[in-house]
This record gives sequence, C-alpha cells and structure tokens, in this order.
Amino acid sequence: MCGIVGYVGTQQAAPILIDGLSKLEYRGYDSAGIAVRDGENEPEIIKEKGKLKVLAEMTNNGKAVVGCCGIGHTRWATHGEPSAVNAHPHASDDLNVIAVHNGIIENYQELREKLEKHGYVFKSQTDTEVAVKLIDYYYKKYAPLPVEAIARSMVRIRGSYALCIMFKDYPGEVYCARKDSPMIIGIANGESYVASDVPAILKYTRNVYYIGNMEIAKLEQGNVTFFNIDSEVIEKPLTEIRWDAEAAEKGGYEHFMLKEIHEQPKVVRDTINSVVHEGVVHFDSVNLTDDEMKEIEQIYIVACGSAYHVGVALQYVIEELTSLQVRVELASEFRYRKMQLHKKSLVIVISQSGETADTLAALREARDNGIKTLGIVNVVGSTIAREAENVFYTLAGPEISVATTKAYSCQLVAGYLLALQFAKARGEIEEARYQELIEEIFTIPDKIERILEDKERIQWYSNKLVNVTDSFFIGRGIDYAIGMEGSLKLKEISYIHSEAYAAGELKHGPISLIEDGTIVISVVTQSNLVEKTISNMVEVKSRGAKVMAVTTMGNYYLEDTAEFTCYVPKIDNLFAGSLSVIPLQLLSYYVSIGKGYDVDKPRNLAKSVTVE
Ligand code: G6P
Repeated sequence: MCGIVGYVGTQQAAPILIDGLSKLEYRGYDSAGIAVRDGENEPEIIKEKGKLKVLAEMTNNGKAVVGCCGIGHTRWATHGEPSAVNAHPHASDDLNVIAVHNGIIENYQELREKLEKHGYVFKSQTDTEVAVKLIDYYYKKYAPLPVEAIARSMVRIRGSYALCIMFKDYPGEVYCARKDSPMIIGIANGESYVASDVPAILKYTRNVYYIGNMEIAKLEQGNVTFFNIDSEVIEKPLTEIRWDAEAAEKGGYEHFMLKEIHEQPKVVRDTINSVVHEGVVHFDSVNLTDDEMKEIEQIYIVACGSAYHVGVALQYVIEELTSLQVRVELASEFRYRKMQLHKKSLVIVISQSGETADTLAALREARDNGIKTLGIVNVVGSTIAREAENVFYTLAGPEISVATTKAYSCQLVAGYLLALQFAKARGEIEEARYQELIEEIFTIPDKIERILEDKERIQWYSNKLVNVTDSFFIGRGIDYAIGMEGSLKLKEISYIHSEAYAAGELKHGPISLIEDGTIVISVVTQSNLVEKTISNMVEVKSRGAKVMAVTTMGNYYLEDTAEFTCYVPKIDNLFAGSLSVIPLQLLSYYVSIGKGYDVDKPRNLAKSVTVE
C-alpha cells in the first residue's frame, strides 16, 4: 500500500510526480506529499492530509514548485493516523536525507530507541521517519556515501520497503532501495523515473528495470546504476512494457471501474487467445508440462479478496473436470497453518498485482516445502510472477479501480483453461467434450458484451438499493462462489452490509435476519440446482425479503418469486460465473454512484495490499 514516485531529468519534476501519483492513488489516498529540488537549492517539501487533489490544488498541479529532481508519495496509513505530519516525505532535521517509503519497518521501535540515544528527535509516529534518520545516522557516522549508508541501514531494518531517497550533498540524484515492496525504474532520453507500479510512468517510457530484493539504485538524468547490498555495481536487463498507455487513462468513461467493466470482453478474449491456438490449449508460456500435470494429485489454490473468490469458483470447475482434489485457502490463513502439504501437489496462487503480502508469503511457504507452484498473475515482472515456478499471465492490462472487475474475469477464464488442460493431460476428458468446452469458452467475451448492452435495466434497479442497509447473496455451487464476489463488490464500494451464503445454509442462521424489505440477491445459473435455490428464494420472500435474481435466459419462471430478474445468456454450467458476475459488478457500481461515493477509491481500502 502507499504509492511512491521519483523523477530526475530535464523537465520540471513536480507536475510529473503529481501525475504519477494520480495513477497510484489506488494504492492509498489518505495523504500525499512531494519533495522537489532545484539544483543545489534547499529542497521544498509539501505534504498534506487528504486525497492527492488537495496537494494538486496547493501546488497548482505541481506548476508552483520549481526543480527537476524529486520524490512523491500517496499514503495508506499504517503507523500513525492520516495527518500532514505523518504524510511523506520525511526528512532528517537538517534536510540531509529526505525519503518516501512504501512498506512496513517491523523493528522501528527498537531502531527509534537506538537513534534517540544518539540525539535524534522524532516528529511523526511513522516507521518511515526512523528509516530516514537511520540512513542519516550511518551517512554521518561512516563515509558520506549514499549507497553505503543505505546498505548499512538495509541490514538493520526488518520488514518491507520500497524507498526513494534524496541526499543534500547529491543534488540531481535519487536513490532507491527495495525489499519485498514493488518498485520499477523507467528510463527515457535524459530522464529517469521510479514508481511503485507501471501506470505511473507509462506515459513517459516503456523501458523499465526491475530492481530486485535487497538492491539499491542511483538515478541520474537518463542514467541508472544498480548496486547489491555490498555496494558493488550490478547489471540489470532493460525490459519493454507492452501495456498500452491509453489503458491507464479513463478514456472517456466517468470512472475507471466502469471503463474496466466494459473492457472485459476484450481482455477476456486476449487472455484466452494467449494460450489457445487452433482449438487447443498450449501451456508452453506457462511452463507446466503435461507430464507434470499427470503427476499432480492435489491442488491448493491460495489467494486474497476477489482472487480468493476466483479460487472458490475454480474449485468446482477443476473437481468436475478432473479427479484432482482441490482446496481453496485464504493466503492470510494458509501461511500460518500447520498443514502437511501433499508432496505431489501444485500450489496455485492467484493475484492481480502479484504483490499481495499474504499471497507472496504463501507462495514462499510452498516453495520452501518443495511444492510446485503456479502463479496466475496480471502484473508482468511483479514479485509473485518472478518467484513462482510457473506463471500464467492474465492479459487484463492495468487495473486502476480498487474494486477489481476485469482482472477477476481474466483470472476465471485462466482457471477454466488450466482445468481443461489438466483434464486433457490426465486423459480425464473425451476429445469431443474438450472441443465443446473450448468453443464455449470462446463465446464468453461476446456474451459479456450482450450483458453490458443491457446495463440500463440494472442501473434502474440499483436506484432501489441506495437506501438499503443490509443484503444477502445466495447461491449454490458456482453460483455461491459468484455470490461471494457480488457481495464483496457491493460492500466495498457502496458500504452496504452484505453477506454471501450458500443457499442451503440459510436455514442455519441467516434466515433469522430476514425481515420486511431485506434484500436477497440470488444467483441461479446452475441448471441442476435451480429448483433448490428457488425454494430458498421462496422461503426468504415469505418472510418479507425483496428478492433479485440473476439467472440464465429461459428461466422466466423466476419472475414469480423475484421482484427483479436479470438474465444472462446460456452457457455451459461450468462457465456461467463469467456471465453472472457482470450484472453484480454493474449493480454495485451503480449503487455506489447513486450514493455519491468515490467508486474508484472506496474508503479505507487499497488495491495492492503489500502489508499483512
Ligand atoms: C485488494 C483488492 C482486491 C483484490 C485483493 C487481492 O483487496 O482491492 O480487488 O482481489 O486485494 O489482490 P491481488 O492483487 O493479490 O489480486
């Protein structure tokens, strides 16, 4: 969480920093700040509580600040409340060292006490100020060399960090250090950039370096030098980013979330086409062979948030198509469980950002146990993508809205293709059925398009939910998995209390909460379970609930029970989740808009959760 940027070049830094931060606001938005330096002059530090808009107004979008070298930060508070004093950048009292930080310094208390004994005084409650003053301490104690001072500090700091640092004695230079928090470095003619994520610099360059763990970089105008922890110079390959710069802009839509919902047909199609050629799935790019697939006996799917919900849906799909046992685990729980992992297993971690701290820790845990790993990841070069043995890249492109939509949909189809390939490699599916299912998968993008064309109906119904305080999502099988995602979407952006229940569980508790006007949203696409779920709908309706249904075209009799029914095109039961989730995304979007909320940046949330 938190977004950081840095720039050294020939242009004015502040507008570039503010523009970069605007692309990173999904990472945190409770305060923001920049430090900019004009040649050898003293740097100017401007920081304030509130969204980036506040800082942009204070600085006239950066135009009021002079200098071609600077760093910036958008914060998601961990240590210390959101306030101007806790906002980054933080500096040593004499402005010798100034830095911005993303991550958590776990031993900050111990380091702070050590520094206090040496006369340092702390203004903020942040762990970052401790890092800044530690670097200052080593810089002054030993040789005044930035890389050495940073390296010494890195050895003492426990935790995670992406740091951008400026030193008083080194104008026109920005230093960076990284451990377990994301950071990329971009380079163009005479300009150098650093950021937490690609969208912040995509407008300026596509040529990037991935700085590794426990590495340091020195940025000068158009030149970057890398060092290891022993302060030795190391070489890094330059990589070209393929993402379209337009993809990180709103492109005429009012919000990123709506734009990303509409991008789903395209990005789902791209993801399918990346591995299916002439009707056959090819996993060469994923690097998982048929022989390896045959050997595996158990799958663990580990993820957080919506990516976890993808895992829940995939569990049904994989278990239906193969003889594999599948367990779906929340990464935050998995990493601390004392569970004997099956030796012949595959741990699949699903992550849009490729940086979620718990998912990354789970991946490392699996690797330490000698278990084969596969990442379904969206961000190229992210830590999970680099550390998983096998990677299936979803081609969702940059996702900016905090509430995921298009990355979720790509993860689902990636999982279907994986399930099919497992079934084929293991000889557990007939050729005709395999072909039929591949053809069905190819129909998903057009069918999503058709659902989107009908969005006005959902918008109309969403107005009725604006004043609702409680809601329940019910479904069975894959419909339950989709209900979980629909429920999360609604609560995260419209702040309506919402719970998802397996419809069969209603009678074991939640039905006691149903009263006049309670909203129950029922997902009913699994043809073998329709009648069962309808009985549950009738049960809640007879107790006063207002029921909405998302179902398959043809199931018109649901209108007898539901006050509003939304239809999705017919598709094989296995893939129905890719369609039924779309109306639920639209519903939560319109409810949030109807309530006047900032749909792309819901309160207290960040898109990339890089702390535990
Ligand atoms: C946050 C995001 C969710 C996402 C989850 C996992 O909570 O808001 O949209 O599903 O993190 O993130 P990941 O990047 O690992 O998919």
